[in-house]
Amino acid sequence: MNITLSTEPIKAINADITLVIVIDKDFKHPFVKPYAKLLKKAGFSGNQDEVCHLPEAGILVAGAESLGHAHIRPAVASAMRALRGKPYKQAAIATYMSHPKCTATLRGLVEGAVLGHYAFDRYKSTKTKGIKRLTISTEEYRGHPIDVESAKRTIAKGIAAAEATNYTRDIVNTAPDDFYPDVMANTAKKLAKTNNLSLTILTPKAMKKEKMGALLAVARASRHAPRLIHIAHTPKNPVATISLVGKGLTYDSGGLSLKPADFMVTMKSDKSGGAAVLGILKAVSDLNLPVEVHGFIGAVENMIGGDAYKPDDILRAKNGKTIEVRNTDAEGRLVLADVLAYAQQEVQADYLYDLATLTGACVVGVGQYTSGVMGFHADPVQKVLYAGETLSGEMATQLKFNRHLRKTIDSTIADVCNIASTRYGGAITAGLFLGEFIDAHHRDRWAHIDIAGPAFVEAAWGENPHGASGAGVRMVTRLIEKISRGEGH
Ligand code: BES
Ligand code: ZN
Ligand code: ZN
Repeated sequence: MNITLSTEPIKAINADITLVIVIDKDFKHPFVKPYAKLLKKAGFSGNQDEVCHLPEAGILVAGAESLGHAHIRPAVASAMRALRGKPYKQAAIATYMSHPKCTATLRGLVEGAVLGHYAFDRYKSTKTKGIKRLTISTEEYRGHPIDVESAKRTIAKGIAAAEATNYTRDIVNTAPDDFYPDVMANTAKKLAKTNNLSLTILTPKAMKKEKMGALLAVARASRHAPRLIHIAHTPKNPVATISLVGKGLTYDSGGLSLKPADFMVTMKSDKSGGAAVLGILKAVSDLNLPVEVHGFIGAVENMIGGDAYKPDDILRAKNGKTIEVRNTDAEGRLVLADVLAYAQQEVQADYLYDLATLTGACVVGVGQYTSGVMGFHADPVQKVLYAGETLSGEMATQLKFNRHLRKTIDSTIADVCNIASTRYGGAITAGLFLGEFIDAHHRDRWAHIDIAGPAFVEAAWGENPHGASGAGVRMVTRLIEKISRGEGH
C-alpha cells in the first residue's frame, strides 16, 4: 500500500472510499454531521474500534475515544481491516492531531493504516484484495495548520515502524515446517543484504567452540540444526550501542516434558522474540538511526527423540555455570543463557534487552495483551515502559525481582535449576534465571521483556490481527529512536 500526503481538502481527493473517525462520539463535527442520521439508523454509536460502512455515501466510519495516538491507531487499523476483501483500491483520510505541533496522532494514524492493512495469506489459495493507495489530506480535524515537511517525516517513520512490525508478523505466522533455524538464518541474510547490515551465523561447530552447552542440549533432538544469528546496524559516530537478544524457538514441543496437545498449538510463535529482533533491525536501518544496534538470535527447535536432553541432565552454559534440568519445556531460558553470554562477550553495550515468549506465567499474571518487563535496575526497565505505553501504544508493565524468589531457583546439585521450586511467580523466576547470565558490566543496563502474551493472540485486538502481532517491534524501535535523539542516555 502506497501512502501519500496531499494538500487538497479531503473532499477534493480522488478516492473510492473515505475513512472518517468519530472522536469521542462527536456526531456534530463537520466531518461527521452529514452522515449522523444514517449512522444512527445503522446502529453505530461511535465506540472505540466500532466500524460502520456506508457504501452509498462512500465512507467507512470508525470510533475513537480521543485524539490520542493510542485511540487513533487501533481505530484506523479497525477501519482498514474492515476494508479487506472489499472492491476499493484508493482510500482517503483527513489528518487528526491532538495538538497543533504534536505529530504523535498522525504517526498513530499511519501505523494503524499499515498494521490494519496487514493480512497473512501465504497459505490461502485465493488472496484477499486490499487498498492500493491511501491519501492523507492535510485538512486537519480541528483545523490545526500542518507543517508539510514535518508531516512527511512523521509519515515515513510510521510506515517504517509498522512495516517492520508486519515483517515480524509474517515470520511468526509462518508454519514451523517452513520456518526452522536455517530459514531464520537465511531470512537474516536477506535482511542484511537489502539493509546493508553486518551478519555472522554460528553453526553447531562454532557453538561447541563457544561452549554453548545449554543451547546445544535443547537443540539436540531436532533434525534441524540450531543457528546463532548476529546481525548488526553499525552507523558512523553512533550516539549509543544497544544489544538485543531474541528467543527464536522455531518450535517448542516442550521436549521430553512434552506439552499437552492444547498447549502445543500456536508454539510456532515461540520464535516471536527472535522475529522481533529482526523487525527492529529492519526498522532502525530503514530509519538510519545513529545508534549501533546488535541483534543476537538463538534459533533452535525443541523436539523429542532418542537424542533428546532430559530432566535430570546437568548442562554447562557458556559462562561456566552449571544448570540442573528439571523440565525440558523451560528451554527458552537455556537458549537465552548462552545467547546472552555470547552477546555480552561480543559487545559491551550501553543497553542490553532480551525479548522472549518465555513463560505462560506472564500471560496468567498480566493478561494476553501486555508484556512483562524485568531487570535489576530501574533505568533500562523504565525506558521500555515509557516507549511502550507513552510512545508506541504497546502495553508493558514491570514485574519486580526479589531475593526470596531468587532462592527458589537454587539447585542442590548444580549452580542453578531451570525451574523454580515454587509454582508461583513463574515469570519472575524465569527472569531471575536469565539474570544469572548477565555480567557485571551489563547488570544495570539489562532488561528482560516477556512477550508471551501479546506476541500471538488468536483473535484480532486493537491494531493487531488474529495471530502474530509483532509485539516489541514498535516499542523497542521507539526506545532506540528516543536514544538516537540523545534523550535519556
Ligand atoms: N514457550 C513457552 C512459554 C509460552 C507459553 C509462551 C504460552 C507463549 C504462550 C516456554 O518455553 C514454556 O514452555 N515455559 C514453561 C515453563 C515452565 C515449565 C517452568 C511454562 O510457562 O509453562
Ligand atoms: Zn517451553
Ligand atoms: Zn518456549
